[in-house]
Amino acid sequence: MTAAPAKTIGILTSGGDCAGLNAVIRAVACRAIEGYGWRVLGIRQGTMGLMRRPVEFEELGPSVFSSTMLRMGGTILGTTNKGNPFAFPMPDGSLRDRSEELIEGYRELGLDALIGIGGDGSFAILRRLAQQGGFPLVGIPKTIDNDLDATENAVGYQSAVAVATEALDRLQPTAASHDRVMILEVMGRDAGHIALAAGIAGGADVILIPEIAYTIENVAAHIERVRRRGRNFALVVVAEAVKDSFGQQVRQRHGIGTETYGGIGHLLGATISKVTGAETRVTVLGHVQRGGQPTANDRLIASSFGVHAVDLIAAGRFDRMVAWQNRQVVDVPLGKAIAAPHLVDPHGAMVRTARSLGICLGDC
Ligand code: F6P
Repeated sequence: MTAAPAKTIGILTSGGDCAGLNAVIRAVACRAIEGYGWRVLGIRQGTMGLMRRPVEFEELGPSVFSSTMLRMGGTILGTTNKGNPFAFPMPDGSLRDRSEELIEGYRELGLDALIGIGGDGSFAILRRLAQQGGFPLVGIPKTIDNDLDATENAVGYQSAVAVATEALDRLQPTAASHDRVMILEVMGRDAGHIALAAGIAGGADVILIPEIAYTIENVAAHIERVRRRGRNFALVVVAEAVKDSFGQQVRQRHGIGTETYGGIGHLLGATISKVTGAETRVTVLGHVQRGGQPTANDRLIASSFGVHAVDLIAAGRFDRMVAWQNRQVVDVPLGKAIAAPHLVDPHGAMVRTARSLGICLGDC
């Protein structure tokens, strides 16, 4: 029997970072190098590394097998959530299709396959590139928003929920000491998973998510109810994409022309104060949810995903995304995984749990 020819695979992290990315990189490198005797090239700054000349990459070796990688936040490869190569912003303000440069970069590295660690936006771009360039691609889902269909958990989500829950643990005693209503604004883009999960786990009185429309009257009435029952404080969690009283999502403009959600917490704090007479304080958790050490569960998911992705390449199965379903690591067609976002089901178990615990979701 002749040995299978050695392969060279590429790996990149794309989109917003999160806790657990280095654990994925470690697992991929370990399985590919130790398990199959392949070479692994880490591409820097997501797809940007393939666009730059010379192509920016580093060969991964035994140093990334270190358990330090399991604990380390961020991504050693760097990442980007800007610069769609199909409409790349040029210095003169125009948009240029630079996809062929990327594909050329991929070929220059002599790769046999690429592993992309990303969310829905990154996968849409990588998949289009793979189809155009005719190269094999496997996806590993990561996003604190947990809005990818077909996987119960994306890497980073559980760590973000743990951070938001800890924030509520810390806000509760100070809220009680000062008789205040504390508002915690959390990330999640268009999905309320972080808000809902952390709100339940952290004992929130009110949880507002973009999937369920609220009125300020319902929120105020619930805070009054809490008071009448003899409690002097309340905890409110709001997801960043929740709309203001004019039905608009609140956005922050950043210096270099980018925009993100942010600001609904402060608007809500001012309104709750006005309507209920309560003293309010607002905490915007922001990128704290993305950094830091991954939880044990995120490390387990990251490790299983990394190993399974390499095994898919070994088996010649491409255009797939690894996924977590029913306590197992499985794989699904990548196109199907990004066809529609996974939002909070207003009739699902988590919403039912919240309602049954007397948590107000703003709609009644
Ligand atoms: O998608 C991940 C995420 O953290 C969202 O929850 C948030 O809205 C956005 O990225 C923030 O992006 P940036 O890193 O550009 O501020």
